[in-house]
Amino acid sequence: MLGIDAIVMLYHCAKVSVGDILEVGSYVGGATIAMAMGVRDSGAEKKIISIERGCRVDLPRIGTKDSFKDLTKNLKRFGFLDMPTLMSVAISIATVIDLPTAAG
Ligand SMILES: C[S@@+](CC[C@H](N)C(=O)[O-])C[C@H]1O[C@@H](n2cnc3c(N)ncnc32)[C@H](O)[C@@H]1O
Repeated sequence: MLGIDAIVMLYHCAKVSVGDILEVGSYVGGATIAMAMGVRDSGAEKKIISIERGCRVDLPRIGTKDSFKDLTKNLKRFGFLDMPTLMSVAISIATVIDLPTAAG
């Protein structure tokens, strides 16, 4: 789980930065939601593409049985599940990198 200083920094960067945002490893959405709030409050049409491969973490309080399921749940809870400029993708970046090799 991110500390409040990191959350505020991500919110601010997403709000003032120019251009779209790519997040690799959204886990259960702490940074994703902070950045989505920043983009929303900027009033600009910035896209956020958030990639998560899905994982299980057996830790008290910050653990998850299914990170992608909890990510979706948290995005919904904070009102960002249907944000038109936020795309949350269940994929491993390694899969993307390996695609040309796999295609031969
Ligand atoms: C330390 S957590 C990220 C914390 C998160 N950004 C937050 O706001 O709390 C790392 C995440 O990266 C994901 N991950 C690791 N390797 C990945 C890969 N190759 N492709 C996609 N996601 C990956 C893991 O499943 C995990 O959820």
